[in-house]
Amino acid sequence: MKMIKLADTNLPAIGQGTWHMGERAGQRGAEIAALRQGLELGMTLIDTAEMYADGGAEDVVGEAIAGQREQVFLTSKVLPSNASRSGVIQACERSLQRLRTDMIDLYLLHWPGQHPLSETIAGFETLREQGKIKAWGVSNFDLDDMQQLPPGCATNQVLYNPESRGIEYDLLPWQQEQGMPVMAYCPLSQGGSLLQHPALRDVAKRHAVTTAQVALAWALRQDGVIAIPKASNPDHLKLNAAVADLQLSDKDFALIDKAFPPPRRKQPLDMV
Ligand SMILES: NC(=O)c1ccc[n+]([C@@H]2O[C@H](COP(=O)([O-])OP(=O)(O)OC[C@H]3O[C@@H](n4cnc5c(N)ncnc54)[C@H](OP(=O)(O)O)[C@@H]3O)[C@@H](O)[C@H]2O)c1
Repeated sequence: MKMIKLADTNLPAIGQGTWHMGERAGQRGAEIAALRQGLELGMTLIDTAEMYADGGAEDVVGEAIAGQREQVFLTSKVLPSNASRSGVIQACERSLQRLRTDMIDLYLLHWPGQHPLSETIAGFETLREQGKIKAWGVSNFDLDDMQQLPPGCATNQVLYNPESRGIEYDLLPWQQEQGMPVMAYCPLSQGGSLLQHPALRDVAKRHAVTTAQVALAWALRQDGVIAIPKASNPDHLKLNAAVADLQLSDKDFALIDKAFPPPRRKQPLDMV
């Protein structure tokens, strides 16, 4: 598995997302089993957020990682509405309870909000001093937002897949220059029409893999990118972990560029 250094930790470049987990009681067992299977397959970074299922996803993660906390790199996110100096501390403490742990490895501001960044970051720094988080970062920040940040930001988690590649114009190269990894969310475009696209099908056929595996390998071709696909289906988890062994060629990338041209000018940051 390709490894990426984030917050002084060497992490596998493919992690596990959790959006929509914890929403349906009947799925809970399958979601816990999926996360545990992902850990066994080496996808030890788990991404969650207080927003997902109103804390329900964190609760699922907490149960899934019980007894193996030290093997997991845990990322969670505070809602912008909770990101005042004191609000961020209270939100983190609630997340820690749901996650059944005393430390979150990486705690992100979910998107820019109404509270001054300096307050949010002061809250993050207090949490770091208290040992409740190891590192902090942001999500859905465009380049101008990033340039406002003081030193100490470990990552920026943004939408990145062939359909949404505007970050290649400025944000991604800037983060690469800073040595700050990008966490690519929705790398499979939420399992939508991207996975049926003829260009991805062509590439997939040539390597005898699936279009989802092509999409993940495409994201990982960039230095310093960690992709966090969400998968509840056991077959999907195996396929995602196997992307570690998939090397696409320049010809493959050219085919994808033709179907999804790289940005030639600044584009507003895509979000879901
Ligand atoms: N920071 C933010 O604002 C933000 C926004 C969105 C997402 N995120 C994070 O990023 C994670 C990933 O994004 P996402 O969940 O929205 O979308 P995604 O990972 O692009 O797609 C998830 C969908 O793809 C399917 N899938 C997974 N592996 C597959 C495979 N090998 N073949 C075919 N289909 C496959 C999943 O199905 P099954 O579940 O049935 O396996 C699920 O329906 C989220 O879960 C969340 O943790 C962050």
